[in-house]
Amino acid sequence: MFRDRIFEGKVAVITGGGSGLGKSFARRFAELGARTVLASRGLERLTAARDQIVAEGGEAIAVAADVRKPEDVEAVMRAAHDAYGRIDILINNAAGNFLCPAEKLSSNGWRSVVDIVLNGTFFCSRAAFPYMQEQKSGRILNILATYAFGASPGTVHSASAKAGVLAMTRTLAVEWARYGILVKAIAPGFFPTPGAAERLWPGDPEEQLARMRRTVPVGRTGEHAELANLAAYLCSDYANYITGEAVVIDGGMSWNHPLFEWEKL
Ligand SMILES: NC(=O)c1ccc[n+]([C@@H]2O[C@H](COP(=O)([O-])OP(=O)(O)OC[C@H]3O[C@@H](n4cnc5c(N)ncnc54)[C@H](OP(=O)(O)O)[C@@H]3O)[C@@H](O)[C@H]2O)c1
Repeated sequence: MFRDRIFEGKVAVITGGGSGLGKSFARRFAELGARTVLASRGLERLTAARDQIVAEGGEAIAVAADVRKPEDVEAVMRAAHDAYGRIDILINNAAGNFLCPAEKLSSNGWRSVVDIVLNGTFFCSRAAFPYMQEQKSGRILNILATYAFGASPGTVHSASAKAGVLAMTRTLAVEWARYGILVKAIAPGFFPTPGAAERLWPGDPEEQLARMRRTVPVGRTGEHAELANLAAYLCSDYANYITGEAVVIDGGMSWNHPLFEWEKL
């Protein structure tokens, strides 16, 4: 299936597409034929990612935007439409996060994460809507985290915002199905990225990775390609009967038992 250029002629907007998982989505979608639009605040990283995609034979443009600002994301969609004439796929991947006990979290810290994750996802989806409605077709993929379904001690801001995005996914899926717009989500477990390592996994990186592997039944963290292929499947015509659904990809971590130590079995 994924040897084909399944996204030939399609246009994909990826927020946070200049780094980490967003860049992996963009590179894979471009490899599968999509013309990609990378949007985030840092133009330098975005243009480097764009240049890499072009060097790999793909198509990409970079647009600086802050997803917290409705006027910025409306400009991103206009730029995508001006450059490529349509918008088929939106991946709401941009996020902010940092570790902080709930009682010490400042109002600004709370607002900032909720603003990027929850408001940003809504602003981008709303801005893409008119183009998708006009085409009578669209795919919106929201990047959650496994803790959207549970608890995330130390990141109450992100957990609350991701749970909100889960509710948004289901609600928009129901509202927009009549326009041919499917809204879905992916909830990843541990996928090493420089951003996550810097902000969420402090201390010795090797020690952190070893601790993570112990909590994952399959015994390892996730590969970016595994996540990007799931995203590609969900945004492709192979998944046209899936909407309002969030797919967990975490090597079984969510089902693990805190007392279970597989090495001792
Ligand atoms: N890595 C993991 O293990 C993991 C696990 C579960 C879920 N996730 C989710 O997967 C997604 C990507 O994670 P990651 O690890 O790749 O994160 P990351 O490396 O920190 O990247 C976050 C991206 O979001 C962009 N961004 C942040 N604030 C923004 C804003 N206000 N406006 C526009 N763009 C903004 C950043 O670009 P700029 O700085 O240029 O704006 C950056 O490209 C996130 O939604 C995250 O919650 C990741």
